[in-house]
Amino acid sequence: MLTEDNCQSLIQAAIQAKEYAYSPYSKFRVGAAILCADDTIVNGANVENASWGGTICAERTAVVKAVSEGRKDFIALAVTSDIAVPISPCGICRQVLREFCTLDMPVFLVPVDYPKKDAKDGGILKMTVGGLLPYSFGPEHLELPRQPTGPQ
Ligand code: THU
Repeated sequence: MLTEDNCQSLIQAAIQAKEYAYSPYSKFRVGAAILCADDTIVNGANVENASWGGTICAERTAVVKAVSEGRKDFIALAVTSDIAVPISPCGICRQVLREFCTLDMPVFLVPVDYPKKDAKDGGILKMTVGGLLPYSFGPEHLELPRQPTGPQ
């Protein structure tokens, strides 16, 4: 269950995770942390590559680390960077989140100067997976009956 306490731990974990970003090309560090139903927090940072398409975003690092360790009951995600506006997951990361998270799962987008003085919620932009990726395609669509016009 998401509480004020584990939410704060999640935000701090994302801030910490940024320290391990490998971003020599963009010089843009991103940290993410995902909270599992058993209260475990799994961190991730962006890991770039000299072949740029090989870059993995912080959000996907966290999700893939967790899933590959047997955890896929996620209840919240936090993402942060070094900039003063909250950054939002890229399209590929949104689709990866869609695979494992409920549409109403909270996603906390955290500015570098969190908690921002005099800003609502310390400057955090609170989104949901469904809000970030409306009308999305997900695993359940592959379970729906198909017209017998395609390959049998
Ligand atoms: N990046 C992330 O890790 N997450 C985001 O939400 C947006 C972008 C990374 C990818 C790349 O290493 C750098 O930020 C610049 O795009």
